[in-house]
Amino acid sequence: MSSATHMPNHTLHAEKILILDFGSQYTQLIARRVREAHIYSEIHPWSITLEEILAFDPRGIILSGGHQSVYDPNAPTVDKGLFELGVPVLGICYGMHLITKLMGGEVTPADKREYGPARVRAGEESSLTHNFFIDGETDVWMSHGDHVEKLPTGFVTSAASDNAPIAAMSHNKRRIFGVQFHPEVNHTPRGEFLIENFIELCGCTRQWTPSHFVDYAISQARDQVGGDHVVLGLSGGVDSSVVAALLHRAIGGQLTCVFVDNGLLRLNEGDEVMETFARHLGVKVIRVDAEDRFISRLEGVTDPEKKRKIIGHTFIEVFEEEANKIPGVKWLAQGTIYPDVIESAGAKTGVATAIKSHHNVGGLPERMGLDLLEPLRELFKDEVRQVGLELGLPRRMIYRHPFPGPGLGVRILGEVKKPFADLLRRADAIYLDELYATGHYGRIAQAFAVFLPVKSVGVMGDGRSYEHVVALRAVETKDYMTASWYPMPYDLLSRIANRIINEVPGVNRVVYDITSKPPGTIEWE
Ligand code: XMP
Repeated sequence: MSSATHMPNHTLHAEKILILDFGSQYTQLIARRVREAHIYSEIHPWSITLEEILAFDPRGIILSGGHQSVYDPNAPTVDKGLFELGVPVLGICYGMHLITKLMGGEVTPADKREYGPARVRAGEESSLTHNFFIDGETDVWMSHGDHVEKLPTGFVTSAASDNAPIAAMSHNKRRIFGVQFHPEVNHTPRGEFLIENFIELCGCTRQWTPSHFVDYAISQARDQVGGDHVVLGLSGGVDSSVVAALLHRAIGGQLTCVFVDNGLLRLNEGDEVMETFARHLGVKVIRVDAEDRFISRLEGVTDPEKKRKIIGHTFIEVFEEEANKIPGVKWLAQGTIYPDVIESAGAKTGVATAIKSHHNVGGLPERMGLDLLEPLRELFKDEVRQVGLELGLPRRMIYRHPFPGPGLGVRILGEVKKPFADLLRRADAIYLDELYATGHYGRIAQAFAVFLPVKSVGVMGDGRSYEHVVALRAVETKDYMTASWYPMPYDLLSRIANRIINEVPGVNRVVYDITSKPPGTIEWE
């Protein structure tokens, strides 16, 4: 997490909301909701000091939820001085309990744990709940064990539910608020009004927009890099594509991109990347055809993790060779985004619950003596997409499904061979083509074909065939941690299967994967 004391001095960040994380699974959503209202927000661990908070200079502070009870030994807490800073404070769930405890109220365990939808009724007038209720009621999402039993002095009850008689509380004069429910999740349909009201109370002007970000990031990159040269590994994925477009605008010819064709890409992927970046935008892109090196290293290897390691190491090797050929290169640009930053900081402090290892070129900058340039470090994925559109990248590239670093290497089960990759590329292209044509692509989080290295018997015309099997996978998910298989219409499945069998020699059977995650994973390896 970027340190509170290193905030760049720019109007884009002049007014910002601080979110203190107490370990809720929804903390990132709070930051996203605030940013959707065009105010910059940052998440920091609850343990940062009052001095650090002062240095951050927030216009408002939100205390997140958390899974502990405020009376637990070692329960996370904050300095009471936080309430004397004169900026509005909103506590959500655990945050509300903490405000209550620190300001002299009382929190008790509820009779039963409440998890799921609930209906709240309006209580006393509060600037926080303006427009939140319709006819005095609204639906919210609850997830708590404890609840507020007795209000601290000066607070009024601004919402109540059957299970939580104090579901929201307000100290209108001091502008300190608490809500038992989660306004940041989609299951609280009018939650955005509540967050809007809070931001309004913080008196922020709306500076956080994609176009302001682009201006800011360009001037930042120019300041950082000066006259030096920068190298970027361009994969064709959203993050590296946006970095390429952004840095090209900022520093033009000082940027060189390296695009490694590992032979495990989708059909025409290399050509499309060259078309968009080199031809269209005029970005300097070196395309390296390393198919033979990758495929030969994978010969005889069937273990998925070994395959991943070989592909990863070979990528670094090829990339390094090419980068070393660029004269005067001092910087390595990377598409690191804010969730990566939060998660690696969370892993250190133990706050964030989900830990994801990301797949950037770890260790490379040190070895090559390059400084790291990460212009998207502050952005959530949806913000990266907005910035990409702002920079004029094609929608189809911006809204593309994620594609794993090892590419088709983990979609060809067992040993990877070039003919298998060629076959899979063709089947996958037909599948995606049909999904685009029918409008299903945009409703699916990730769809792809998988090559199964087994043969099955079929009939073709008058003869008997004995050929390979292709599996189709499509899932719906928001976070990729859990996923449901996509209910694909039968007629579409039937058309895709017919096309693949007729148009791709070597395939005589197509199956559809109806496994959700868990127990399955999204990829097959
Ligand atoms: P699983 O298969 O674990 O996938 O359910 C979750 C998400 O991660 C992607 N994935 C990878 N991405 N390198 C990557 O860059 C990998 O080795 C890798 N394995 C899985 C997968 O495509 C899905 O989006």
